[in-house]
Amino acid sequence: MKNSDKPYVILNAAMTVDGKIASKTGNSQISCDRDLDRVHRLRSEVDGIMIGIETVLADDSELTVRRVKGENPIRIVIDSKGRTPSDARVLDDSAPTIIGSSELIKDRDKKRLQSLNAEVIITGEETVDLSSLLQILKKEKGMNKLLLEGGSTLNWSMMKEGLVDEIRIAIHPTIIGGKDAKTLVDGEGMEKIRNGIKLSLMNTEKVGKDIVLTYEWGNQDND
Ligand SMILES: NC(=O)c1ccc[n+]([C@@H]2O[C@H](COP(=O)([O-])OP(=O)(O)OC[C@H]3O[C@@H](n4cnc5c(N)ncnc54)[C@H](OP(=O)(O)O)[C@@H]3O)[C@@H](O)[C@H]2O)c1
Repeated sequence: MKNSDKPYVILNAAMTVDGKIASKTGNSQISCDRDLDRVHRLRSEVDGIMIGIETVLADDSELTVRRVKGENPIRIVIDSKGRTPSDARVLDDSAPTIIGSSELIKDRDKKRLQSLNAEVIITGEETVDLSSLLQILKKEKGMNKLLLEGGSTLNWSMMKEGLVDEIRIAIHPTIIGGKDAKTLVDGEGMEKIRNGIKLSLMNTEKVGKDIVLTYEWGNQDND
């Protein structure tokens, strides 16, 4: 797929110094206040925000622009079986919602979500075919810029498939440990460091207590 066939994708996440994006109990309120302002500004600059179903179930976030003035982007939930609960905040009427689903979704759940004004787009047999979905979001929905807000499993798939263009990570000065606590990118992982996805550091910025690192996808050689 050509890069122009999909929206430009920015992965944004808040992380502890030890690389966790949530505690072992799933608590993910990591960012300082100033960083939350930055995230809401970023949300106001994109056409859509994409998250995984486990993040919906864990955080029940509205995914709207509240801390700054701006339009709410379209919300996209990656949910192959249609598990998004009817009372999830992401389905409220503050912005349109798309459920990116797969052929595993039951007709009953598809109708339930559609009756709550969500649009259900099916790509993929067992998991969501992210590449096809992004092409639809660009071609049919006119989305040029998308914010990926995790979690770890979706971040891995998006990174592995080469669908992420930019990464912004806010590092909060705390360490929480926990072998089961989610990291920025989980999934299957690479066997060797040399197989890792190469990035180029574009910017560092102090935002309140946090440091925000901006990386672009790039062929930088490892030292
Ligand atoms: N600090 C932060 O910035 C931040 C941001 C976001 C999330 N979080 C935390 O991250 C945690 C959730 O992360 P998670 O890794 O458990 O789940 P996730 O990435 O939110 O969701 C993963 C789920 O998406 C569905 N999916 C469908 N197609 C997929 C595909 N092609 N690739 C990947 N996933 C696909 C799968 O469920 P189905 O098979 O059922 O469809 C999969 O289990 C929560 O604790 C949340 O608080 C933290």
